[in-house]
Amino acid sequence: MEKESIDAYVRQWFAPEDEVLKQVKERIHQAGMPQISIQPEEGRFLQVLVKATQARLVLEIGTLGGYSGIYLARALDEQGKLITLEKSAKHAALAKESFLHAGVAHRVELILGDAHATLPALRRRAPFDLVFIDADKPSYPQYLAWSLELLKVGGVVAVHNALRRGSVLGVSPADAYTEMMIAFNQSFAKEKRLLPTLCPLGDGMLIGVKLH
Ligand code: SAH
Ligand code: DHB
Ligand code: MG
Repeated sequence: MEKESIDAYVRQWFAPEDEVLKQVKERIHQAGMPQISIQPEEGRFLQVLVKATQARLVLEIGTLGGYSGIYLARALDEQGKLITLEKSAKHAALAKESFLHAGVAHRVELILGDAHATLPALRRRAPFDLVFIDADKPSYPQYLAWSLELLKVGGVVAVHNALRRGSVLGVSPADAYTEMMIAFNQSFAKEKRLLPTLCPLGDGMLIGVKLH
């Protein structure tokens, strides 16, 4: 079975991408920003996590153009809130437009700045129901530690790019972050405070339920 055809099958039936989302990816492209938003089937997967945790408060680390944020915010109730962290002012500006276009801006709080500097203030907003980590890969261990601190028991942490296009299992060439992600996946798998798994959809999503 080909990974691409499996993803395409999931996308066809479980992850329609509407005009608003297509336009976000187009504007990211036009702005010359990295085209590293999640895939629609990964967005749907995040929405399932929002609903399954009955999330009222979601944290995202790494906003880019707001593509994944729209999926998260759309799955929240009217009283729900997404807090999303982004260090690039250019990315944050485009993301704000995206949230307005999608009609979810009232449910999204975008915090501009390096996540290492902006995370400590979120202690007073905790507990979070769901954390989605999708920013700089070398900081993943620190973002996981923050997630464990900020999540409620029963809350879920999701981490993007666990497969690094298959390089972590040696079926595609290693890149600068492959070794790092191999080590991170192993520590995630062994984390005693989590019930962990790796969902191979898209570029791979680590999922962990906070146990205690
Ligand atoms: N989740 C987005 C994609 C995020 S790409 C989506 O799927 O739509 C990663 C983003 O993390 C980039 O916009 C980058 O600027 C941001 N980023 C990288 N390091 C960061 C840091 N230390 N703090 C906050 N944001 C960071
Ligand atoms: C890349 C993809 C991502 O989803 C990400 O968060 C960072 C980098 C990449 O393909 O380089
Ligand atoms: Mg990613």
